[in-house]
Amino acid sequence: MTQISERNRSLAVSQTLAMSQRSAELRAKGVDVINLSVGEPDFNTPDHIKQAAKQAIDDNFSFYSPVAGFLSLRKAIAANLAQVNGVEYAPEQIVVGNGAKQALCNVILSIINPGDEVVIPTPAWVSYVEMVKLAEGVPVTVPADIRQNFKITDEQLRSVITPRTRMVLLCSPSNPTGAVYTHDELRSLVNVLKDCPNVTVVSDEIYQHINYTGSFTSMASFKELEGRVVVINGVSKAYAMTGWRIGFMAGPVEIAKAVTKLQGQYTSGASSIAQKAAEAAYTGSQQCVEDMRRAFERRRDLICGLAAEVPGWKVNRPRSRCGSRSRDTRPESQRPRRCFLSVPGSLGLHRTTFRRPRHQRLRRPRPIPSRRSPCGHCRRRGILPPRLHSPQLRHIRR
Ligand SMILES: Cc1ncc(COP(=O)(O)O)c(C=O)c1O
Repeated sequence: MTQISERNRSLAVSQTLAMSQRSAELRAKGVDVINLSVGEPDFNTPDHIKQAAKQAIDDNFSFYSPVAGFLSLRKAIAANLAQVNGVEYAPEQIVVGNGAKQALCNVILSIINPGDEVVIPTPAWVSYVEMVKLAEGVPVTVPADIRQNFKITDEQLRSVITPRTRMVLLCSPSNPTGAVYTHDELRSLVNVLKDCPNVTVVSDEIYQHINYTGSFTSMASFKELEGRVVVINGVSKAYAMTGWRIGFMAGPVEIAKAVTKLQGQYTSGASSIAQKAAEAAYTGSQQCVEDMRRAFERRRDLICGLAAEVPGWKVNRPRSRCGSRSRDTRPESQRPRRCFLSVPGSLGLHRTTFRRPRHQRLRRPRPIPSRRSPCGHCRRRGILPPRLHSPQLRHIRR
């Protein structure tokens, strides 16, 4: 029998992608499924971006691109980061990859040695821990609960840093909680990190533009951490381009060089057509980003109100798109034995998926399908409020 490596066997499958796949299979069989798994805007990619891709095909952008991405795209990313976040990067500090996911994995694989510790506040996106395991690092999770709005404090951070800590992986706005660290909250974390010169801060800012707080601070803007912050971002969420697979890392030149070497050996540069589309996204009108953000905000308001009606649930109000985190406060005996995964008509994630038992992420990335009557199965089990299935949700459209 063919041997599968220890490294591969120790990895968990991506539960969000597995659920998404399962929902597609059920839908193909005619089942009316509400997919609450993967984070994907339901909007189409804006026309001016699609037009740029068509033009790129006609202009024969069909050859390998530089491994780090076209210079014109890296310049467009640098200009965008300077204008929106006030942080300056040279194109040599930016490496474009196949989505933010690859950009992030590249960075972890380029920095982490076996046994190095990586601090990950939880609830956390499903892939962080697995990527650290792939690099043979040690994930050190730091729990933050609903009472602290799912954000870790400076004392918590200080308490987990050891001489083996090599990286802190922050995600703000957060998937899955929707929490957004304020400038002052980040500043208090920076005050801890500035005394840890061997620690690189990886700041996953992929949800930066789907933010309802009206303000965003990039970790890269703190001068005390200069030369030690790597920003991860991309076009997937902000421009409804999940399938185009363009993301990037921006950080110190030596990390960008290491990432380019790694990527050059296993995927080469990202799709040249998609890069041209991403360039149009960064250089064109940003109105589409704001229009989508407003639509997500309306949906957030509705779903938070409805979820708060579920008996035994505490619901936080997400500050960004990612989801409303709910905590089931009922005693064990009264809690449903099964989670969303098992509810006919809805597909959610197992409650430990994001490393936070007894919590469920709700997200409403797509308009709710045409379910007209309350679902008895859910009502009996108290899993979803009947109104989550009501026709009024159908009014939440773009
Ligand atoms: C927090 C977070 N980071 C990174 C990614 C990866 O984004 P991309 O689709 O650009 O690879 C995701 C995707 O869901 C995410 O939720």
